[in-house]
Amino acid sequence: MTFDDTSEFVIAALGASAGGLEPLEAFFRQMPAEPGIAFVIIQHLAPDHETALPQLLGRHTDMPVEQAEDNTQVVPNRVYVIPPNATLTIKNGLLHVAAPVQARGSRTPIDSFFTSLAEDRGGNAVCIMLSGTGTDGTLGLTAIKEYGGMAMAQALETAKYDAILRSAIATGLVDHVLPVEAMPAKLLEYATHLTSANGNLRDINEQIVPHLREIHGVLQRRTGHDFSEYKESTIARRLERRMKALQIETVEQYVQALERQPEEADRLFNDLLIGVTHFFRDAEAFEAMGREVIPKLLEGKGTDDQVRVCVVGCATGEEAYSIAILLCEHASTLKDCPKIQIFATDIDDRSLSMARKGRYPESIAEHVSAERLERFFIKDDKAYQAKRELRELCLFSTHSFIKDPPFSRLDLISCRNVMIYLGPDLQQRILPLFHYALRSAGYLFLGPSESVASHRELFHTVDKKHRIFQRKASLPRHAVKFPLGDINRPNTSGPKPLPDVDERNLAKQLERLVLERYGPACVIVKENGDAVYFSARVNRSTNAAFSITRSIFRASASSGSSAWFRASISRRCWWSSTPPWWRSPGGGRMRRALGGRSRSSRAMPLWPTTTRRTCRRRSWWCAGCSGRRSTR
Ligand SMILES: C[S@@+](CC[C@H](N)C(=O)[O-])C[C@H]1O[C@@H](n2cnc3c(N)ncnc32)[C@H](O)[C@@H]1O
Repeated sequence: MTFDDTSEFVIAALGASAGGLEPLEAFFRQMPAEPGIAFVIIQHLAPDHETALPQLLGRHTDMPVEQAEDNTQVVPNRVYVIPPNATLTIKNGLLHVAAPVQARGSRTPIDSFFTSLAEDRGGNAVCIMLSGTGTDGTLGLTAIKEYGGMAMAQALETAKYDAILRSAIATGLVDHVLPVEAMPAKLLEYATHLTSANGNLRDINEQIVPHLREIHGVLQRRTGHDFSEYKESTIARRLERRMKALQIETVEQYVQALERQPEEADRLFNDLLIGVTHFFRDAEAFEAMGREVIPKLLEGKGTDDQVRVCVVGCATGEEAYSIAILLCEHASTLKDCPKIQIFATDIDDRSLSMARKGRYPESIAEHVSAERLERFFIKDDKAYQAKRELRELCLFSTHSFIKDPPFSRLDLISCRNVMIYLGPDLQQRILPLFHYALRSAGYLFLGPSESVASHRELFHTVDKKHRIFQRKASLPRHAVKFPLGDINRPNTSGPKPLPDVDERNLAKQLERLVLERYGPACVIVKENGDAVYFSARVNRSTNAAFSITRSIFRASASSGSSAWFRASISRRCWWSSTPPWWRSPGGGRMRRALGGRSRSSRAMPLWPTTTRRTCRRRSWWCAGCSGRRSTR
């Protein structure tokens, strides 16, 4: 949803904790007395003392500064301060003060206010992060961006405490990272632009139509991803947000900027992929999943069996970990437990790297019970880190359901809140793909606004309300058209000649396509044994991705008989399943890891220049060591 009544004034929320007073004072010193903006300050305050913050700030601004009271109507040119020991939210322009629900150490008042502000004001919401510890504010900032607002963060080097800022900036969603003194001018510019652009922004949906081909063309050339079959309204909303951020008034001007500045295509791409998500999103649906599906997935399976799950569009990983938690909980009630593998995919590399870390702000306590937090997470420095056992079940990889070959033999596909962004044709084509990827009688878990209505012949409904479906076991595999998107679609290339910089991108595109089609199947493994990337051909040619898990890599890495593999991993190598290295020690083990197929493997460092230094043995199998088959 986008709030499109831009005639409303801007509400700017400032979030701070330790070291927040100084930047707040500096901010208001630079702000004129009648900016036409309302300000709400969410400062972490001692819960059992009155606060002097309104008086202290009152010395630096001519605007009235007051402690927020329940049911106060927010008006421009006024500053409201959160009371101590309270949760502050806003609805229909009214402030609401409530007693905090969370225990003292786990409260996240900045997230609560930012999130309610995002829902209430849409594009007229601005969030500003100032000095502080912890991670409060990060989730709220994501909501502000999702609803079309603007986000700023204090420059790290100017802050007394920067943890809160690092966490916010790591989302990649902050529009401006600035010294506090420069923020008022940027905010005023934004508010003025919203007012003057009011008329233009309203008809953006109409303006965008004649430019769609060019926009898709630039995006595809720059990022390799085709958005031409995503909903126009999704593209228009994100484009509107970028136009606001750049203070551009017409789509035509924006398209010119897009073509001139390659990095603007990256920003639009990032905005298109905002992966708002949280743990157990739609708690009831996850309860139903835990009750109706999870036990069936594990039923009758022994320790040599596998349960294979794919989470499509996993964003920052919360959905994959939620399913992992459900599976672990049930598995711990069984005598024998099959091997659990969760393949979690997305095209947003920033989100995936957060997912792999499995480190989440303390506000996840809102959606994860205390018992689960205790059992599956470690609390450190105001964040929750998913325990290693949980992380090891989930393999996060870059994978587009549109252009990459599908996984197969899956017991469950969870694809929630992704289809809603797709146009009807692509929505229709994705369902046969899911049918193809599932084992007979495998399950499909969709988001609350998604359904299998266009392909009822392929799925039974297990639970209509919670969008749980099951592949019809009797039906043979449906013939799927693949890739779902046509990578050679002529209409995405746009009518204009490509500027130089885009020609380079075209060459990159070509290299990517050639690699995907003719390159070896390959996996990138970090030194700790984590597999962080599977190339498309791993899935297509061997299904190896399904058999290789981090634990297999670890087992291989720690086994004496596969010293070569351990050594290659410890030097941060690139590993590939390219034949014909038949005589490689441990090759038998790797063949098993690859599903018993006749193929061997070869380790190749990604950084050949450093290999000479790191690989002292110059083993014959090490492609990075001057290519010599030397010591064996
Ligand atoms: C709204 S989020 C949904 C997150 C999560 N599934 C949930 O329900 O909470 C949509 C996600 O789909 C991802 N996405 C969009 N297009 C995709 C594609 N072609 N292949 C894989 N992921 C895609 C986006 O990057 C984003 O992370």
